[in-house]
Amino acid sequence: MNNGAKESIDDKDAVNFHSEDAPDDSSISDQEDSAAQIFAATGLKFDPETAPLLWSRILQHKWVLSERLGRDVGLKLACIDFIENIDPVTKDARDSKRIQCLRELGAQVIDRAVWETISDSQPPKQVVNNRIIRILQKTELARKHGVTPPRAIIFFGPPGTGKTHFVKAIAGILQWWYIEISPSVLMADGQDRLGANLKKIMEKVYDLDETVIFIDEFEEIAGSRDHASRVDKSITNEFLKQVPLLKARDRKNLLICATNYIRQLDAALLRPGRFDCIIPVGSLDEQGRKTIFEHYIERTNCGTVDLDRLVSLTSLFTPADIEYLFQKVRQHAFEQEFNLQHDYLVTTETFLEILPSLRPTLTEEIITEFQEDCAEYTRV
Ligand SMILES: Nc1ncnc2c1ncn2[C@@H]1O[C@H](COP(=O)(O)OP(=O)(O)OP(=O)(O)O)[C@@H](O)[C@H]1O
Ligand SMILES: [Mg+2]
Repeated sequence: MNNGAKESIDDKDAVNFHSEDAPDDSSISDQEDSAAQIFAATGLKFDPETAPLLWSRILQHKWVLSERLGRDVGLKLACIDFIENIDPVTKDARDSKRIQCLRELGAQVIDRAVWETISDSQPPKQVVNNRIIRILQKTELARKHGVTPPRAIIFFGPPGTGKTHFVKAIAGILQWWYIEISPSVLMADGQDRLGANLKKIMEKVYDLDETVIFIDEFEEIAGSRDHASRVDKSITNEFLKQVPLLKARDRKNLLICATNYIRQLDAALLRPGRFDCIIPVGSLDEQGRKTIFEHYIERTNCGTVDLDRLVSLTSLFTPADIEYLFQKVRQHAFEQEFNLQHDYLVTTETFLEILPSLRPTLTEEIITEFQEDCAEYTRV
């Protein structure tokens, strides 16, 4: 059997048969004749403009059906089968299977605006833009220059630096489904099912399109095999199989893994050819902090705030620290208004009062260690 024809019938959306593609028994040449033939077989009237295309697909279907059943099914049967069953059935089945799969995986749609909360000055944003977003958006240009779209990437960096936020921002700007797979879900029914669960989830993902699949705390499932138990080794091995399988599919799916401990990952996973990019997400520059402050200030009951002063006082703050600072400031504002019974506006003074009680995540030691990791592992 001609596989091309079978695939086309199974995949309705890709079908675009023209009369010359139809088998030899096509004797219908003009629009009225096509419409008349369909009417004679089914009693259904079709617009003369669409009838020839439909008719050529019916002839193709007749041929495919005859091949499948091993006998000539006749025009009338092929016509009725095609119009009444094949198209809606395959389309509905495919759509409902896809929707069920997305539901099972907890797929989410992320707002495009998340991308704007990350300052353009942040080095990871520039890398993500150049190596991921533009390539995936300008596929023709990428193909012309032989640039392969990335399929699997790793983010690494200290806690709270915005790795998860980056992944959501990517899903948002691409408007692809965001699917988060946590190691705890993979281990839900026991450590020994880890590899099998990963395989099951990845097999579902292969049938989807336009998804960002995110695995956080990647070191928990892909730690170095030298130090791992037998069970841990099996999940790393499974991973080593799944990444190339994902890459082999011609689908718009992007696997992103994040870790705070890049040093703990299995060296085999970090070799070129597995992950396309390994991207560090570290401390924020001034503009980066400013953008995040502006984001949270907009959502806080603020009076006059000296933004530049706050930015200069928070050089070791991660996005998570800034978020926590605002949480404390807002709580303080709520308590003040509750106690004093008059409108309370957050000002620079409020921040200055709260700041000494907070300890930023980043230290000189963490930054030095991160810089060593950057030199050792970064690949963009
Ligand atoms: N650019 C940003 N603008 C506003 N909020 C941000 C930004 N980046 C991160 N955040 C917020 O800071 C918090 C920490 O960010 P995130 O969870 O992405 O960090 P992480 O690097 O994934 O942390 P972990 O290593 O603990 O997983 C989140 O609540 C997130 O919403
Ligand atoms: Mg995270």
